[in-house]
Amino acid sequence: MKELKEPKIITQIPGPKSQALLEIREKNVPSGVSSYVPTFIKQGQGALFEDVDGNVFLDFAGGIGVLNIGYSHKEVVKAVKEQCDKYFHTSINVVSYEQYVRLAEKLNNLIPGNFEKKTMFVNSGAEAVENAIKIARKYTKRKEIIAFTGAFHGRTLLTMTLTSKVKPYKFGFEPFAQGVHRIEFPYIYRRPKGISEQNSINYYIQKLEKFFLENVAPENVAAIILEPIQGEGGFIVPPDNYIRELRNICDRHGILLIADEVQSGFCRTGKVFATEYWEEFGVYADIVTSAKSIAAGLPLSAVTGKAEIMEAAQVGGIGGTYCGNPVATTAALKVIEVMERENYAQKANHIAEIAMKRFNEMKEKYEIIGDIRGRGAMMAIELVKNKDTQEPAKKETNKVLQECWKNGLVVLSAGVRGNNIRFLMPLIITDQQLNIGLDILENAIKRVTDHNI
Ligand SMILES: Cc1ncc(COP(=O)(O)O)c(C=O)c1O
Repeated sequence: MKELKEPKIITQIPGPKSQALLEIREKNVPSGVSSYVPTFIKQGQGALFEDVDGNVFLDFAGGIGVLNIGYSHKEVVKAVKEQCDKYFHTSINVVSYEQYVRLAEKLNNLIPGNFEKKTMFVNSGAEAVENAIKIARKYTKRKEIIAFTGAFHGRTLLTMTLTSKVKPYKFGFEPFAQGVHRIEFPYIYRRPKGISEQNSINYYIQKLEKFFLENVAPENVAAIILEPIQGEGGFIVPPDNYIRELRNICDRHGILLIADEVQSGFCRTGKVFATEYWEEFGVYADIVTSAKSIAAGLPLSAVTGKAEIMEAAQVGGIGGTYCGNPVATTAALKVIEVMERENYAQKANHIAEIAMKRFNEMKEKYEIIGDIRGRGAMMAIELVKNKDTQEPAKKETNKVLQECWKNGLVVLSAGVRGNNIRFLMPLIITDQQLNIGLDILENAIKRVTDHNI
């Protein structure tokens, strides 16, 4: 295998081999399964991948936040290969295996909260959220669930209902699941005009209090679910004081607080879990869902919660055939071992230091960058047509992204308005690669703004 060091584009994108495969894709795969960069991967290493035509891309998307440890980490590959030689599957519901219980024990220790916890495994982020909601309803004996504007929790019936962006996630897929309600997320950059940042926290809390008066009595609410940092919504960090107040409201009314750490978990934010930032001011979630970077790309997700809550589901009521697959749980144990040993949380902070400095310089230079935000290496920039009006620059965002991949950088958009660029680079990226990627990004922004491409 060729060693990959930096991005290098040697053909038009798509190259001839990718083009041939794209034709097969188009003929055989529904276009509802979206496609982004028109290329086919041949191999991945660290923060880079090579396509079938020999082009090398730098990956700031990380398979949508799944590759915090990078492509094909040698130690994970070795652990997986060894496990494959032994057995692929048995099902925890039939015969137990050590890696399932060891990983549960590990997550119970890692997830914030000085109380007894239990963990179950499923296969995807959406499934983890589904199970968290099932368990919360069973435990509280209540039906209603509150989610937020801008939220993304998945594409299954229940999680699509919890998800807030209508197009493309919900449009035409009605009827939705029952008992889901929505309140406004504290999106400080887009708070109502005339309200200061500090007062906006009261504004958003009052909206929730009003919701209880006008829509659903709090004693009927089983859980409030939120992402500690909104992912698909645009990497929006809710203020600490808002979280503190939200926890108080939950405690007052016996409502469970579910933190969806599917995108923010496993060192992305400069902590192993983003809810560790809550821990600093004494707030804990009752249930935490995690997935994505947990197993370096093998399908695995987890629901971790207070033991008493997790015990609410009856025997056989939660789980499934493939849940907590032996190969995936083996990979996860190795991922966590490497992340702890090599301090991946610190790597995320190091990336943030370099990237945030560059983003701030770019914000000074380019009218199109309206906001910069994030925690650790969960960073985004929001593109606007005008800094004062904050009119979303969706078309320009897409052009910047296209300019990026044409020049060897894969990076994704986010946000209900589609005008955020989010950064999910593998945390093992080198400083040199990071700077190359930021140069490609800046050149793309410059070309789109200067030349109105
Ligand atoms: C916060 C959050 N929850 C849930 C999901 C759904 O995960 P999956 O696509 O694995 O079902 C995602 C996926 O992006 C997510 O970011």
